[in-house]
Amino acid sequence: MTMILSTGDLRDLARRRIPRAIFDYAEGGSYDERTLRRNTDDLDALSFRQRVMVDVSDISLATTLVGLPASMPLGIAPTGLAGFFHADGEILGARAAAAFGIPFCLSTMSICSIEDVRAATTQPFWFQQYLMRDRGFNQELIERAIAAQCSALVLTLDLQVLGERRRDPRNGLSIPPRLSLRNAFDLVTKPAWIKTVLLGKRRTFGNLAGRIGGSSGISRLSEWTASQFDASANWRDVDWVRSRWPGKLILKGVLDAEDARLALATGADAIVVSNHGGRQLDGAPSSIAVLPEVVRAIDGRCEVLFDGGIRSGQDIAKALALGARGALIGKSFLYALAAGGQAGVTRALQILREELRVTLALTGTSRIDDVGPHILR
Ligand code: GLV
Repeated sequence: MTMILSTGDLRDLARRRIPRAIFDYAEGGSYDERTLRRNTDDLDALSFRQRVMVDVSDISLATTLVGLPASMPLGIAPTGLAGFFHADGEILGARAAAAFGIPFCLSTMSICSIEDVRAATTQPFWFQQYLMRDRGFNQELIERAIAAQCSALVLTLDLQVLGERRRDPRNGLSIPPRLSLRNAFDLVTKPAWIKTVLLGKRRTFGNLAGRIGGSSGISRLSEWTASQFDASANWRDVDWVRSRWPGKLILKGVLDAEDARLALATGADAIVVSNHGGRQLDGAPSSIAVLPEVVRAIDGRCEVLFDGGIRSGQDIAKALALGARGALIGKSFLYALAAGGQAGVTRALQILREELRVTLALTGTSRIDDVGPHILR
């Protein structure tokens, strides 16, 4: 792992290790992928102010995120299918995050179940859910998250209907993954993945046991989502979740100042400024473009977290400069997981931490709390 020097190196390695359909599930966005590109382009377009001759011999990245100490202002975002990027992917991701002292968020659409991750880890993790048509299932997931002593519930707001990710049907992405004529050439070059994932013990959504149609599994994720997720969900339903979940509540998928105010009114502890990694409304602005207006609307009344395009420690510093308390990684986590399992994720976190530390130093900043718009030009 020592010649892995950037999250881009981990992405290159991931591309060689896992099937194209799985890699593309992480890599892709919806429709023409305009918003996906904006996320990284708009972060790239920001420049730092370089400051010199400031004593930066003692830099601290330590902070708190949603009420708990974190060794740096970063968390692992909820991502579906992590267990297809590496066997036991969610467990390994949670362990790497815990060893680093940062939060890990498990997705409802994970391969390892909430109970699997709880049994295999010692630190509390966050759990993400959507509003489902069957509200009894939401209630059940909340109870399971309470039983697993999850430290926060992340409610995703921006996926009432699914933006089409064209790569998935083109690649024939199915759950469980299958060998077919279409992917045979690709799969023969990935023997380790075949052995550990395709023939492994966890091959479908761990949290959804008994809820996914028959033995044939899911051939079109979009059809399954349309049948299960509640397109009629509204802010009253968020109140419903708030009244049932006793712990910290994080609302993910806010991309507008007015929605930020409505989210705040629910009593949420944090919001995540997010366009779902460019996977939902194509043509929406980048997350970084709307972060300042959301931060102004919230005005310190709850925590503002950020995701969308974070590939480096420099990107984390930019999000913090524009008012985020912390950033989340989704794609960079999945690439790292595919590249090297727990060691891969650990390497990604080391890289991001070092990049952030050096960026702080070269902008003349010693404390995370001192990062502000003045570090940008
Ligand atoms: C799930 O939330 C996804 O973006 O695939």
